[in-house]
Amino acid sequence: MVQQKALLLPEKFGKLVVGERAIPKVEPGWVLVKIEATALNPVDWKIVKYGVFVEQFPAVLGTDAAGIIEEVGEGVTNVVKGDRVLFQGWYQSSDRTTFQQFSVVPAEFVAKVPSKISLDQAASIPLTLATAALGLYGKQPTKGSAGLSPPWEEAGRGKYEGKPILVLGGSSSVGQFAIQLAALSGFSPIIATASASNASYLKSIGVSHFIDRHTPTAELLVEVRSIIGSNPLEIVYDAVALPDTQKAGYELLSKGGQIVVTLNPVVDEETAAKEGKKFVHVFGNVNDPNQRETGKSLYSKLSGLLEDGSLEPNRVEVLPNGLEGIVGGLKRLEDDSISGIKLVARPQETA
Ligand SMILES: NC(=O)c1ccc[n+]([C@@H]2O[C@H](COP(=O)([O-])OP(=O)(O)OC[C@H]3O[C@@H](n4cnc5c(N)ncnc54)[C@H](OP(=O)(O)O)[C@@H]3O)[C@@H](O)[C@H]2O)c1
Repeated sequence: MVQQKALLLPEKFGKLVVGERAIPKVEPGWVLVKIEATALNPVDWKIVKYGVFVEQFPAVLGTDAAGIIEEVGEGVTNVVKGDRVLFQGWYQSSDRTTFQQFSVVPAEFVAKVPSKISLDQAASIPLTLATAALGLYGKQPTKGSAGLSPPWEEAGRGKYEGKPILVLGGSSSVGQFAIQLAALSGFSPIIATASASNASYLKSIGVSHFIDRHTPTAELLVEVRSIIGSNPLEIVYDAVALPDTQKAGYELLSKGGQIVVTLNPVVDEETAAKEGKKFVHVFGNVNDPNQRETGKSLYSKLSGLLEDGSLEPNRVEVLPNGLEGIVGGLKRLEDDSISGIKLVARPQETA
């Protein structure tokens, strides 16, 4: 069996360690990707610390990758060996995760990476774009989707012109994609919160009104209300979903409005329903059977959106020491010391 290097979690609550495991086999309709870059997400340290999501050990974490097609399974027609692609991993199988040198993925969920985007940048896209996209848009609206029309399809482009949107945590990786998608949907104004140091970047990707996230809540409410005037605020995307941000977003929401949250809602469904408001708790993975249709439609258009600049990747910082470097990177995410960038590791550079 041909072996590869992988960052292994030997057991629940264990310590991440570089080791070896077999390179997975390719099934019909799937592809094997040589991973050149993998991005780190908060969920990876949460799995280690809280023992959630993963039940089979040793496990490989990581759900964001970009690399080169190494082998295509029978029947695959959309990509060939040698193509540069990005894809999202799936924690239910360590053959499908990304803190390793090779991974398998259904061919329908890879997108070719345009030459102007590096593989490091491309790795910043899959999970957080999916979280922004699936939370807002739904082909088969599920509980975790606001069910809007996606802007990557013609009918949805610019459809929400003149409607305000508030993105809380705009500089987070998820927030950056929520802003860019909102701009493609035509939302206006696009109001976002983040630290002042990220204001000009967020304006460059579509924010029309920036509010410092350290503004006291009472002032934030006044500021948002003065920006939107008498327009109803029907959509809030809370990318950081902390208790305070959720409460502020919920308070600002109009009757009939929806607040998309990335973590558990702080108001129960029944109370929100009585007040005519709705929490949408997103599950940001295109491999989820309930969201495959929306995911497939997004992936069928993703290369084009990147090529024409409709979407741009996060700014990235490449960690040293290949897979080993992920350990320190996850600590920085846990310590909340990352601002407006994505940490990326290169598995092929593992010693
Ligand atoms: N449900 C799902 O499927 C799903 C999927 C992906 C992520 N998530 C969760 O979503 C959250 C965001 O993930 P991410 O990868 O986007 O995180 P991230 O990029 O690591 O988030 C870092 C950013 O959070 C911002 N931030 C921190 N506290 C804030 C506050 N009080 N108000 C506004 N912004 C604040 C910081 O902004 P400044 O530096 O500008 O202050 C920083 O840029 C995490 O909790 C993650 O676990 C859930």
